[in-house]
Amino acid sequence: MEQKHLKIAVIAGDGIGPEVLAEGVKALETVARLDGSFTFDFTYFPWGCEYYLKTGEMMPPDGIDTLRDFDAIYLGAVGYPGVPDHISLRDLLLRIRHDFDEYVNLRPVKLLKGAPCPLSGVREGDIDMVFIRENSEGEYTGAGSWLYEGTPREVVIQDSVFSRFGCERIMRYAYEMAKREHKTLTSISKGNALNYSMVFWDKIFAEVGREYPEVETHSYLVDAASMFMVKDPKRYQIVVCSNLFGDILTDLGAAISGGMGLAAGANLNPERKYPSMFEPIHGSAPDIAGQGKANPLASIWSASQMLDFFGQKAWGSRLLQIIEEMLVERKVLTPDMGGTATTKEVGDEVVRKLTEN
Ligand code: NAD
Ligand code: IPM
Ligand code: MN
Repeated sequence: MEQKHLKIAVIAGDGIGPEVLAEGVKALETVARLDGSFTFDFTYFPWGCEYYLKTGEMMPPDGIDTLRDFDAIYLGAVGYPGVPDHISLRDLLLRIRHDFDEYVNLRPVKLLKGAPCPLSGVREGDIDMVFIRENSEGEYTGAGSWLYEGTPREVVIQDSVFSRFGCERIMRYAYEMAKREHKTLTSISKGNALNYSMVFWDKIFAEVGREYPEVETHSYLVDAASMFMVKDPKRYQIVVCSNLFGDILTDLGAAISGGMGLAAGANLNPERKYPSMFEPIHGSAPDIAGQGKANPLASIWSASQMLDFFGQKAWGSRLLQIIEEMLVERKVLTPDMGGTATTKEVGDEVVRKLTEN
């Protein structure tokens, strides 16, 4: 059988990004070596805040063109004190999500066995949801204006954009998943206050839903939805929400399912016209950067999502199973999970488990 060569662009980025990504790359390399039917060809790009401080840009002007021919992008984290966040994130991470039309941000919120959970009375299986976050427009469009800057009449306008095209495609993606997996679908909204964007969102959710009569649906206002995430998380299975709501609720999701060190995400261009991007949902964690304390399991879970995306579902599941085993054994974990191991030791343990027997 011919060996498949998968070209991966690695943007390790800032802070703990390079630390955690190194462990994910090790896991992926090990999987490819064990499997034999495919290889990973990693190309590293030094883009990020340090690059910005040297060049004045987060990536070169032809950066997007350079990435276009890769099969996927594996990203660590972007943002560091010293470079304004709205520049570092908009010019690199958000630019890639946007330019490659990665309109699905798929974030599992699943309490693995052994993972710490701050909620009382939550049993195994009670937290098992998938967030489908709209990732191409909404509150993140970046349109607006800053008028009369620096004068007493100063005014800023931040526009949200909800297009029929954008809403329909994200909802259809979510309904398809709910139908395929026989799960309920919950839409998160705020139609009582956001009288254009969220009224429209609700309307499209209902409209697309007519094509999926077999899918049980719920719709919650985002404030109550946040409360239910904490008080009764088992009511959620597949969740579809706008860009900003999804950003906030998935950090809350991380908090109830083991923490930022375990929260993974995939930015998908489902049509595969452009590369998709896999990244932990946490940031560069300047408070622990350079100390070997960062938990690489979120990055490794994102690597598992990448394997799923490439059709290597058995390997994707194996990686997730190893993460769960390690949480249960409690022998090799970073401090955020109550352990004393370093980032590298956790990555080494994943490799050891992959290669044993
Ligand atoms: P953060 O996610 O970096 O950190 C929040 C808290 O979680 C910190 O206490 C941190 O130590 C902890 N944490 C995060 N990841 C961890 C890990 N793998 N292991 C152990 N602990 C972990 O969020 P922040 O502090 O708000 O943001 C820091 C910078 O990162 C900012 O510049 C922000 O804009 C950027 N950011 C980038 C991304 C991204 O690249 N995807 C995501 C979020 C924030
Ligand atoms: C995330 C991050 C990004 C977002 C930031 C860094 C722009 O918080 O991926 O959750 O808001 O999408
Ligand atoms: Mn976020």
